[in-house]
Amino acid sequence: MRERKAEPTYDLDQDWTEEIRKNLLHWYDQNKRDLPWRESRDPYRVWVSEIMLQQTRVDTVIPYYQRFMENFPTLIDLAEADEDEVLKYWEGLGYYSRARNLHAAVKKVATVYGGKVPEDLETISQLKGVGTYTAGAVLSIAYNQPEPAVDGNVMRVFSRWFAMKDDVAKPATRRKMEAYALQVMCRERPGDFNQGLMELGALICHPLSPVCDSCPVNSLCQARQQGIQHELPVKKKAKPPVPYNVIFGYIKQDGHVLVQRRPQGGLLAGMWSLPTVEEQKKGNDALIPDLSKNLAEAGFHVEWGRVLGETDHIFSHRRWKITILEGEALSVSQPLPEEYTWVTEGSWDSLAFPKAYHKALRIADSRFGSRFQGSLF
Ligand code: ADE
Repeated sequence: MRERKAEPTYDLDQDWTEEIRKNLLHWYDQNKRDLPWRESRDPYRVWVSEIMLQQTRVDTVIPYYQRFMENFPTLIDLAEADEDEVLKYWEGLGYYSRARNLHAAVKKVATVYGGKVPEDLETISQLKGVGTYTAGAVLSIAYNQPEPAVDGNVMRVFSRWFAMKDDVAKPATRRKMEAYALQVMCRERPGDFNQGLMELGALICHPLSPVCDSCPVNSLCQARQQGIQHELPVKKKAKPPVPYNVIFGYIKQDGHVLVQRRPQGGLLAGMWSLPTVEEQKKGNDALIPDLSKNLAEAGFHVEWGRVLGETDHIFSHRRWKITILEGEALSVSQPLPEEYTWVTEGSWDSLAFPKAYHKALRIADSRFGSRFQGSLF
């Protein structure tokens, strides 16, 4: 097993670290939430939960996790599944590259590592979508290894414990926190220690109003001693999402609607969509010819009709201002290019559409009276 490279050490007081460790674990034992991924230490189950929990709230993840596990109970089940089916079970959770990377990584584990999730840092870190955080979480929770798992919640907790004013948006700050985590880590119960930190971040050490009176380590918290807990963590403001004008074509023929698989790279890679154009500078009117041109290149000639509605969708770095435009396919490519298919109007459930398209499909359905309810879940 590879040892973690030597990390800088910080002069932490031994009594302080022992007490903080002891108080945190004691509190975790009494207060931890009954979450479905805590029912076993199966590395596959832990891995899936940690991927789903990235950028996503626990409450949102729970039903997805349960359904995913019912459908893909073992790593081999997931490895053997079709990617469209995997995406269907991820539909609505967002950040779909997580699902695609997880699927690719699980396939590799099935074929190259005999179905066993690697237990060493170097090998597990080479799997698609497994960064330092996920590697640390899986190794500590499933394999009881003293690896740090420092996510945004843990950074907030540490900023306060250590009264650190470093910008938590910087990678160097995360590395510094990982070095701290290695020093305070409980060597006997690393998985519980890491989850205790996450739990403290979720239940007590809230971003805006930490409940310091109920905190098991309040007397040891340096930010609290200095009265600066509300000023921490320091985080440089992220740039606001860039606005884009977007047109979705709702193109019909004989009761069917044309849908297109998005390209394999970039935003919403490989997901099903309505034919789409997006642009930062051009207004919507100027975008229609672009959509017509893309479709014509694929062999479809479309006559545009009414605007069916408008909606917005915000991704982490982009904001889509969407117009849904009705169209009629006058001539159709034969044979159908691979990335296109026709779906009976209103029967969208067999394909995985990202949220932005669900919004549009609901708007179209409200205009046409069909009964689409949104995602499978
Ligand atoms: N957030 C990320 N991982 C988590 C876990 N294992 N338990 C609770 N919240 C989490």
